[in-house]
Amino acid sequence: MTVPFIDLQQINSRFETSLQKGWSDVMFSGRYILGDQLTKFELEFASYCGTSSAIGVGSGLDALSLIFESYIHLGRLKPGDKILVPAHTYIASVMSILNCGLFPVLVEPDLKTFNLDFNDLASKYSHDVKAVLAVHMYGQLVDSERLMSFCNKYDLLCIEDAAQAHGAKNFSAVKAGHIGSAAAFSFYPTKNLGALGDGGAVTTDDQDLEELVRQLRDYGRISRSESVIFGVNSRLDEIQACFLSAKLKSLDTDNEKRRIIACRYLEEIENPIVELPYFSKQLDHVWHIFAIRSNFQKDIIHHLDKKGISAMVHYPIPIHRQKVFSPWADLNLPVTDQISRTEISLPISPIMTSAQVDHVISAVNSFTP
Ligand SMILES: Cc1ncc(COP(=O)(O)O)c(C=O)c1O
Repeated sequence: MTVPFIDLQQINSRFETSLQKGWSDVMFSGRYILGDQLTKFELEFASYCGTSSAIGVGSGLDALSLIFESYIHLGRLKPGDKILVPAHTYIASVMSILNCGLFPVLVEPDLKTFNLDFNDLASKYSHDVKAVLAVHMYGQLVDSERLMSFCNKYDLLCIEDAAQAHGAKNFSAVKAGHIGSAAAFSFYPTKNLGALGDGGAVTTDDQDLEELVRQLRDYGRISRSESVIFGVNSRLDEIQACFLSAKLKSLDTDNEKRRIIACRYLEEIENPIVELPYFSKQLDHVWHIFAIRSNFQKDIIHHLDKKGISAMVHYPIPIHRQKVFSPWADLNLPVTDQISRTEISLPISPIMTSAQVDHVISAVNSFTP
């Protein structure tokens, strides 16, 4: 039996009829950019997240960059300001900060939750820090009460990187995207809500921010021929918006299927050399990634591969060790390094069969060093 890490063809073929119809609706509408499909999806996604607005953009990276750029226009941030951001995240979180002339301060993750370590967050605070970019790693929300009390204490903007957390909720049932003052989502095809190409969105309750993101994503325009600020071209197109509307209807059911698989892994993987992920039952984790840890990372991946199972590492080269950030190579981030050396992402997706889940569990349990 083979278990791919993720089978996008199977995931999306479940939506074939609605995707075909969507394709044809868009094709015959003759309007391919900034049309009715995008307006419809933006309203649906905002309502899903509980925010007053959602703005569709070209990617998760653009969503993040446009939030920072907008806050600079609004005078809430200025170039050179420091932004606290987890060191254990996808490179886009950090690149978005640098894209806007801001300065990332890398914070260690918590070894149990993979999210921000609040002690390290507090120790990295200084007067020139003006915001926290909180990343909900692997689909589990950062502790929002502690996060907001930290941000409120120092009057910091709280921005969410919710690229991995569509539909995740905190203990008060507040969803990812509605915890900070603005949030960025990615609709990269492998995400829990994935497009058939690139895409992203900003969610917010702040009308000024919304207006700026709408202008910035479209050449800084306020009308067809009038640009008032320097912008970019980053618009979620009609086809992707239409596909995402169709898939959004199944997001909660798909997240529930991921949860069922995660519960089986948590209950049935019992190899003592493997550390299972911590999660709080009070939080609605959406299991974008099921991350285990072991000192035998490479051997386990090889063992699984021999049994037809694809596992991955998120992320094998931490940000401070990437060539593009070579001046940071000496930063002391031992927990981030440790996660890179030990993390293994097991297959998890809404179309996995229970036989495939059985196969993964028995393969992990049968590994001996
Ligand atoms: C945590 C995180 N932030 C940002 C991004 C960037 O999203 P995109 O690839 O759509 O630019 C990703 C995507 O992988 C991500 O996982």
